[in-house]
Amino acid sequence: MYRLALEGVAPGEVLAKTVYDDTGRPLLTAGTTLTAAYVQALRHRGLLSVFVRDGLADDVVPSDLVSEQVRATITGHVAGTFTSVALVADERGPGADGVAGMVDRLGERPLELGEPATRAIGELYADVEYLINEVLENDSAAGLESLKTHSSYTFEHSVDVAVVGALLGRRLGLPHDRLRELTLGCLMHDIGKTYIDRVILEKPGPLTGEEFAVIQQHPYLGFELLRRMPFQSLLPAHVSYQHHEKQGGGGYPRGLVGDNTVAGRTAHERAGAGRMLLIAEIGAVADVYSALASDRPYRRALPPDQVAATLTHMAGTHLNREIVGWLRRLVPAYPVGSWVEVQPGSVHAGWRGVVTSVPLAAVDEPSVRLVLDADGEEVADPVELDLRRSPGLRLASLAPGAHAPMHRRQPAERRTA
Ligand SMILES: [Fe+2]
Ligand SMILES: [Fe+2]
Repeated sequence: MYRLALEGVAPGEVLAKTVYDDTGRPLLTAGTTLTAAYVQALRHRGLLSVFVRDGLADDVVPSDLVSEQVRATITGHVAGTFTSVALVADERGPGADGVAGMVDRLGERPLELGEPATRAIGELYADVEYLINEVLENDSAAGLESLKTHSSYTFEHSVDVAVVGALLGRRLGLPHDRLRELTLGCLMHDIGKTYIDRVILEKPGPLTGEEFAVIQQHPYLGFELLRRMPFQSLLPAHVSYQHHEKQGGGGYPRGLVGDNTVAGRTAHERAGAGRMLLIAEIGAVADVYSALASDRPYRRALPPDQVAATLTHMAGTHLNREIVGWLRRLVPAYPVGSWVEVQPGSVHAGWRGVVTSVPLAAVDEPSVRLVLDADGEEVADPVELDLRRSPGLRLASLAPGAHAPMHRRQPAERRTA
């Protein structure tokens, strides 16, 4: 099975994973043949993607860090909050006097967001509790599903960052109230982007110096917006303010530094002392992880093993080394349900298959089921391999969906498979 954006679903595709509504009731069960009306109804409910069968290892169910329905509900509330703030932005956004002028115009009073937005922000607190609970229950190592539709990237990305942030915060032993502020801060970290020209945000090519300077304003704008919104603490605003700072300095907007450790940090921390807050460092790691694992206008999502390698490379100078270490223990290089190809040096070189399990004690040594031979032909007897017992066997991740186009059969055929 693999994940498919709803706009790419053709009638006749067979649902591989049950879809639930936001109260947890099943809407469509696994095995349902999708029709145009079903797809329309799912879209109406705010869903963006579904898992469909491809006849290859359909029994392997990719795990997600958080359920589809919680993800859909929270994405809706984040979108609602961002949209209300964007309305204020239309009236008070940066003019000729730039960001400083805009912040001036905001004054020191709360943002006038109106009743629905204030309610949506209240709901975010309940969402965060849900999310933290789900993350608490989910102890398996699972990666993010890296499928983001273009139009809603910022909202889905925000939820991903919050999920990973909450997971990390919990592993680092943050007290519950810190965990809540961290998760809220992650949900809101890019809210400053509502003031930034979409043409620049979604530009497919490299940015000019001037455009990059505009983008670099979003953490400060985020801080100035969030501190005027009805949150119970200033900490979420600081997560937004600091999420593009780097451990070794050289990040933006203030060039704060980190010390690459975690221990004993929450007790003595003060904002504005030239050092990043721990919750902002966690947010920064989660932000980079989500960005690498997602399609962006200027590049495709990196395969999971390259995400892992890139994070390791960024640890120390850019990202807090200790937090990256924790993340690497939580998210495997080869998540369950992801596709891999066996590298040269093995009798199965060039074979492709699906990761079937990931041991918690050795997240980079999964078990795999090889279902396609080196010619891309489906084999009659899949080969099951456990990397812990196969020294010298090397894998490479395939980009999400990369195996699919060649092997997607006609829906009618697949239904009988
Ligand atoms: Fe950002
Ligand atoms: Fe971000």
